[in-house]
Amino acid sequence: MTEFVIYVVDDEPTIREGVSSELEDDYQVFSFETAEDALEAFPENPPDLILLDIELPGMNGTEALPKFRALKADVLVIMITAYEDIKLVISSMKQGARDYIVKPLHMEALEVAVANALETIRLRKEIAALQEKQIRENLPCFIGESEAIHDIMDYIGMVAKSPDTPILILGDTGTGKELIAATIHHKSPNFEGPLVTVNCAAIPKDLLESELFGYEKGAFSGASATGKRGLIEAAHNGTLFLDEVGDLNPEAQAKLLRFMESGEFYKVGSTVKQTVKARIVSATNRDLDEMITNNTFRKDLYFRLGVVKIQVPSLNERKEDTILLARYFLQVFNEKFGKALTGIDERAVELLKLYVWSGNVRELKNMMERAVLTARGTELTPEDLGLEKIDRGRVMEGIDDKRFPPLPPTGIDITEVRLSLDRFYFGKAMEMAKGNETRAAKLLNLKHHTFRYQLKKISDA
Ligand SMILES: Nc1ncnc2c1ncn2[C@@H]1O[C@H](COP(=O)(O)OP(=O)(O)OP(=O)(O)O)[C@@H](O)[C@H]1O
Ligand SMILES: [Mg+2]
Repeated sequence: MTEFVIYVVDDEPTIREGVSSELEDDYQVFSFETAEDALEAFPENPPDLILLDIELPGMNGTEALPKFRALKADVLVIMITAYEDIKLVISSMKQGARDYIVKPLHMEALEVAVANALETIRLRKEIAALQEKQIRENLPCFIGESEAIHDIMDYIGMVAKSPDTPILILGDTGTGKELIAATIHHKSPNFEGPLVTVNCAAIPKDLLESELFGYEKGAFSGASATGKRGLIEAAHNGTLFLDEVGDLNPEAQAKLLRFMESGEFYKVGSTVKQTVKARIVSATNRDLDEMITNNTFRKDLYFRLGVVKIQVPSLNERKEDTILLARYFLQVFNEKFGKALTGIDERAVELLKLYVWSGNVRELKNMMERAVLTARGTELTPEDLGLEKIDRGRVMEGIDDKRFPPLPPTGIDITEVRLSLDRFYFGKAMEMAKGNETRAAKLLNLKHHTFRYQLKKISDA
């Protein structure tokens, strides 16, 4: 018995009974004497397929057909007709009937027509499920319009194509490293394989090795009697994401390096060599260079993990993404909390742009979640975002910057100071770049055209 619901609409009891008894072993069958009755039952228990007599008392089959389809556009309808109604059959087919069967009913023909029609539904459902899966799987939705993010996305597009080149993602907390790892997996040839995430910082140090590599039964006291498959093995043909990789202990680092160089490893307590094919993506917000200097992270592993390196800039370095992300999270949380906020008011937008983020995108996301949840108006205000107090505070943040001389009691000409500062650094950059404008622009983190424009302004001043 399938879950398919079939309506039989015919005024002749023998047909209703005959069809029902033929189909009810395989489907849920409901029969009705008139189209009106069937239409009434429809919303409560919508059918997948309707066997609809053309000649009916009251509303006839061809009149009922569009009414059924208005209730459910993809409902399948098979017309039941006496031979002489062929013109009506044609007009019904034009209105979207799927098929027709002729009275007196031949039960085998009926079954074939029904099975074919339902096969269409099955396929439709399968396609819809696939599409949904596709949408879900492409979901790592990485928002950003800044040049830095565009460059990263382009770069990911290229490097993800290889199935096994290791990729190391570096960046401050909350910048989106995990999301980038997921994006890499979904864009890679391994996307149908598993994406296995290991948070190296969350697993107790003495368990890490056995978690990663698995263990043989009885490998150590407390080991399960059947042994255990490691996470590396679980990532076979997919992606292994080693998050917080800077937290791996020296033994795990050595073993990981050996595995990465050969693709082979041993379970804890085993002498049997195992092979696994997976791409290793790793991430950390720790300063690996410093860890290498302090001998807490292996340099050779660093090079191996970072065959390709992606440095994710902090949100403060790509301020232009802030509002875009804020609006995106507004939609996300509108949907999640069933809210209908229409946007972010002008003052709040200004303050979001000014704000100095310490937790990057995660901080912004949390701020938006709280704001959407508690907002009372139609637009988010600085008060909703908890930004009303930082208004002045954030601008005042530069107040103790030791790079600048103190403000003399007589005051300064800020325009003049800015100009000298520009002259000084533009001059230095041109000198270091030996007159190459592109390189000089890079040294000042400016786009070439911005650099040229500002250089001209300084020279003309
Ligand atoms: N560009 C982005 N577009 C959409 N969502 C983002 C973006 N960047 C980050 N996020 C979201 O912000 C949150 C933090 O991102 P993620 O966990 O990837 O940061 P992380 O760099 O791994 O941080 P940590 O170093 O603390 O582990 C997640 O919920 C993520 O989905
Ligand atoms: Mg992370």
